[in-house]
Amino acid sequence: MGAMSQRHLTILTGASRGMGLAMAQQLLAAGHDLLCIARHTNDALAAEAKQAGRQCEQWPHDLARADGAATRLDTWLQARDQRELASVTLINNAGLIPRIAPLDDIPVDQLKDAMRVDLEAPLLLTSAFLRATAAWKVPRKVLNISSGLGRRAMAAQAAYCAAKAGMDHFTRCVALEQAALPNGARIVSLAPGVIDTDMQVQLRGADAALFPDRGNFVGLKEKGALASPEEAAARARLPAAPRLRQQSGGGRARLRRERSRWLIGQENAEDAKVTQRTQRRHSKWFSLRPLRHLCALCVLLASSPARLHRRKRAERAEETFKRVFSASSA
Ligand SMILES: NC(=O)c1ccc[n+]([C@@H]2O[C@H](COP(=O)([O-])OP(=O)(O)OC[C@H]3O[C@@H](n4cnc5c(N)ncnc54)[C@H](OP(=O)(O)O)[C@@H]3O)[C@@H](O)[C@H]2O)c1
Repeated sequence: MGAMSQRHLTILTGASRGMGLAMAQQLLAAGHDLLCIARHTNDALAAEAKQAGRQCEQWPHDLARADGAATRLDTWLQARDQRELASVTLINNAGLIPRIAPLDDIPVDQLKDAMRVDLEAPLLLTSAFLRATAAWKVPRKVLNISSGLGRRAMAAQAAYCAAKAGMDHFTRCVALEQAALPNGARIVSLAPGVIDTDMQVQLRGADAALFPDRGNFVGLKEKGALASPEEAAARARLPAAPRLRQQSGGGRARLRRERSRWLIGQENAEDAKVTQRTQRRHSKWFSLRPLRHLCALCVLLASSPARLHRRKRAERAEETFKRVFSASSA
């Protein structure tokens, strides 16, 4: 493999603005080729890619209808030659908040779109990505952009909270699945913190009578506590940062703290690997099935008198209950 193998490919949803746009710009600067999916394309991003000599394809697509995008992604990936790539990554970043109000006060169409864009689309795109690249030998990664609200409940945010919690949990499941494969993908779900984007404008602009936490979001803006999209994008790319063991001393401790605060999924993959190692060790050294059966039989025999005693006691209690019941109802 020559110079062609140095191309990193990233598929990124919601790169038309906000944190997605900042991530796209940083990825271009780091030498990634991009495939971006959002309802709108971004001409400035296309110009930046051209100037940097990177490929940047932009598909205008409404992710509330994600099945079409997933099928198209599957076909598109299958037409790639993995030998030209150093890595392939999917970042599910596109997201939306429906009308900010109690659940029974949100139009059904908005609820459906929020669940589709925030949960169904990431799930379908992840499925298509994993299927199309299953036989690839290059590192494969999925980064799901979740939210603190996926881990903490908030009134007037039921659909968004539920979708992000669903995203976190499917990430955990897929991390377990992929850990069992020879070249399984690394998948994590990350809560990027509060970011100064259109989404925060929407939260601050909500009706205070319907949204008890509105004041907190106003306060965060006034205190200057929001991260810029660029800062948040840089932190979101942390999963691609050097592995823990390549860091030294304080750096490693800081990275570990950051990861545990931000990431979901990787710990499941690591747990799954430990479980598999333990199972392998057990099947190698402790596959003494007849001995296990003998032990089980001994336990059963030893517990028989106790069981008999418990059954008799239960029968006596039942008789007493019947007696008392028939006496009181008489
Ligand atoms: N901002 C925060 O404080 C915050 C906090 C925690 C988590 N997050 C998460 O971070 C991610 C990025 O948020 P952000 O603040 O950058 O949001 P944003 O500025 O509102 O941008 C949202 C992005 O998602 C795309 N998108 C929205 N609806 C779409 C649809 N139906 N189909 C396709 N694309 C759609 C938008 O593109 P088009 O409009 O062109 O379609 C846009 O590129 C989201 O997943 C959000 O939940 C944000």
